[in-house]
Amino acid sequence: MKALIICGSRKGGFTSEMCRSFSEGLDLHGVPSEIFFPIEMNIEHCTGCGSCSAEGVCNISDDMDILYDSFERCDLLVLASPTRFSGPSSVIKTAMDRFQPVWFCDRKHPAFAAALLSGGGASPNYNNTLSIFKAFSITAKMAWLGHLAISGTDEKEISDVAGPSFDYGKEIGMKVVIDRI
Ligand SMILES: Cc1cc2nc3c(=O)[nH]c(=O)nc-3n(C[C@H](O)[C@H](O)[C@H](O)COP(=O)(O)O)c2cc1C
Repeated sequence: MKALIICGSRKGGFTSEMCRSFSEGLDLHGVPSEIFFPIEMNIEHCTGCGSCSAEGVCNISDDMDILYDSFERCDLLVLASPTRFSGPSSVIKTAMDRFQPVWFCDRKHPAFAAALLSGGGASPNYNNTLSIFKAFSITAKMAWLGHLAISGTDEKEISDVAGPSFDYGKEIGMKVVIDRI
């Protein structure tokens, strides 16, 4: 049992703190995780060339290979994103689009998916991001476990998001461990 956490934001921000604390909550249930920051990786955009339709392999060779590898080895995928104009960050979307090969090829993939979201306003619109994340989850045949959204970060300290994220990590850790038994 292992988790892949893709953080669609910078290190040291609200969303990365959510990922860090969430992973500590997972740890409590013996679920180790790998957190990746595509913003620091060399990941090109999907061009929609269609070459992956033949054998389910992207013809771009870059750091996406690291995420493909982890995706095949992990049981839980966590997509984390700050709200950007009522949608996901371009960082997470760019990485997600490069998973287009899973549309064509039934490779090993996580059984479960969940999301961590943050937004600066008091009541950000998370619907667009959730609908995109869930579309990916359905495409890769991952069961959607839910999400944690922390709003109002404009008025918060980064440390404020640690507690709820840790608790959500424990909750999801419990679910995946029990569901696997
Ligand atoms: C380009 C941009 C667009 C944003 N759009 C929204 C938005 O539509 N709604 C909202 O509540 N916050 C919005 N925010 C605020 C961020 O979602 C919020 O500050 C977030 O918690 C930052 O997370 P981070 O520290 O991981 O970058 C936006 C921020 C930026 C930079």
